[in-house]
This record gives sequence, C-alpha cells and structure tokens, in this order.
Amino acid sequence: KRHLISAADLTRDDAVLILDTAEEMARVADRPIKKLPTLRGLTVVNLFFEDSTRTRISFEAAAKRLSADVINFSAKGSSVSKGESLKDTALTLEAMGADAVVIRHHASGAPYRLATSGWIDSAVVNAGDGTHEHPTQALLDAFTMRRRLVGRDAGLGKDLNGRRITIVGDVLHSRVARSNVHLLHTLGAEVTLVAPPTLVPIGVETWPCEVSYNLDDVLPKSDAVMMLRVQRERMNAAFFPTEREYSRRYGLDGDRMAKMPEHAIVMHPGPMNRGMEITAQVADSDRCTAVEQVANGVSTRMAVLYLLLGGSQPAVTTTPAAAR
Ligand code: CP
Repeated sequence: KRHLISAADLTRDDAVLILDTAEEMARVADRPIKKLPTLRGLTVVNLFFEDSTRTRISFEAAAKRLSADVINFSAKGSSVSKGESLKDTALTLEAMGADAVVIRHHASGAPYRLATSGWIDSAVVNAGDGTHEHPTQALLDAFTMRRRLVGRDAGLGKDLNGRRITIVGDVLHSRVARSNVHLLHTLGAEVTLVAPPTLVPIGVETWPCEVSYNLDDVLPKSDAVMMLRVQRERMNAAFFPTEREYSRRYGLDGDRMAKMPEHAIVMHPGPMNRGMEITAQVADSDRCTAVEQVANGVSTRMAVLYLLLGGSQPAVTTTPAAAR
C-alpha cells in the first residue's frame, strides 16, 4: 500500500507527476460531465479529528468525481468523545471496507502511526497533522503557482525552478509552511520565510530556505507571497506581539502589495483572519488566489487519490521525513 504522509517524501518526479495528473483532472472538471468512473467500487473515508472546511469538502468532491463511495467521519459527535482510541476508531472504519483513509488529527505523527501500525490495510493520506505537515495543501499551492507563474499548458512536465516564494507569518504553528518549504525546494523554488522571531521554529536553520524579519525588504523580490493564518488557538500570549503590532509589521495591505512585482501573486491557504495577516482589500483583489487555490484543491486531491488507488505509476512513498 502506498500513502501520502509528508511532502518531504516526494521526489521532483513524484511531485511533477501529481501536478500533471491534477491538470488532467482539471480538464475533466471543465467538461459538462465532471465524473470519471476510475474509482468505482472503492471507498474513501474522511477521518477528521480537527475542524476543516476546505480540505474535507474538497477530498469529498474529489472522491465523488472519481466515482468512489465516501464516508465522512467527524470526531465531534462520535464515540471519540467517550474515549475511543485512534486504533479502535480505525479498526471500525476498516471493518466498513475503507480503501483509503484521509486523516486530519491534532497530533503530529497520527497519519504516520495509522499508515505503519498494521491496524488497517488502507492507503493513508495526511490531511493535516498538528504542526507537522499538510502535503495536499502544498501540492495544490504548487499547482496554483505553476499555473500562474509558468502557465497552464507551458507548465506541464515543469517544476518551479528559480521562482522566489515568500511565506509570511505564524510559521511556528504552520503545517502548511513546513510542507510548502519541502515541496517548493524539491521543485527548485527559492523560499524565504518572514515571521516575528517568536513565531520562527527552533531548528529552522536546517530547513531548505532563508529567514528574514523584514517583509518590506523581501516583497519586491517575490514571485508569490503566501500569507499564513495566525493560529491563536495554538499559542499563548507570550508568543505574540499585539494584533495591531503584528498587522503593522507582518500584515499585507494595499500599500505593501504595491511593492510586489506586477506579475506576483498573493496566496492564502485559508481560513483567513481578515484585518490581521491580510486586509480585506488584498484578500478580495484579483492578485489574491485564495479562492482559486480551493478550486485547484479538488483537482489536486483527485490526482492524489487516483495515483494512490487507481494509477499504475509509483507516485508517492511511505517514508516520513522524521524516519530518514
Ligand atoms: N487550508 C485548509 O486546510 O483549510 P481547512 O482547515 O478549512 O481544511
């Protein structure tokens, strides 16, 4: 069985194959009949222990467009509230015939545990685990950047070689940032993180990227600027400058956006804190790809499910970065 646990596991060829397959899936989405019969008879379980809007709905849409059956499980309202373990929850789902389990969990490493425990025989896809990784978010972000910065047709078979990507904000708590840094590096991009010193992870010097504390210096040299959500639910007051101070130094408003090159895009994985890391003016501008990223998420997740369950070529691996 193959799994997708970490963007750090993907080779350049794996990633380009997923992005190219996602382009094929997007062409299907443009047709009057959006469905493919590819995964008919297979069951995808969405196993969500943390809240989600975009990831859960787009995995559901992706599986349905490939004709799979979908079971949605949310820890809220389930027997998890009575103390049922991850193992027993997983065994219950396996008994219902899951072929793939898409898992979001507050504990970093939960998807890896599920994939390697022997409890279940399904393919496992990490839909976000704690502060560790969110690999399909990084893939849909790379898909969006390749389309916008290289071209929809011109991008086929290509990576993001030499593109300058800036990731701004609460890097410390961001699985999106971690997955993006690894995947973008694999795809040849030059990544710069910009964050307050209290929101930079320990050990960041081992990551394949630069770190800056001055957003205004970096903006003119960026092809894409990815704003991260400030994750107040994962921090205490000691981590954080005041909201006003944060917005002043690290928020993206219209004046700052004007410092970016004309071709450069603004990205946000969502959900957005409007008025905190991004102003409404920027979020609603046509340079902001947040809504496009959501649409691209369906095609990208179709590609991942297809390659894991229906594709013939090896696209993703099982070794988590932590084990290498
Ligand atoms: N980007 C993202 O993971 O959004 P959700 O938490 O809504 O799934």
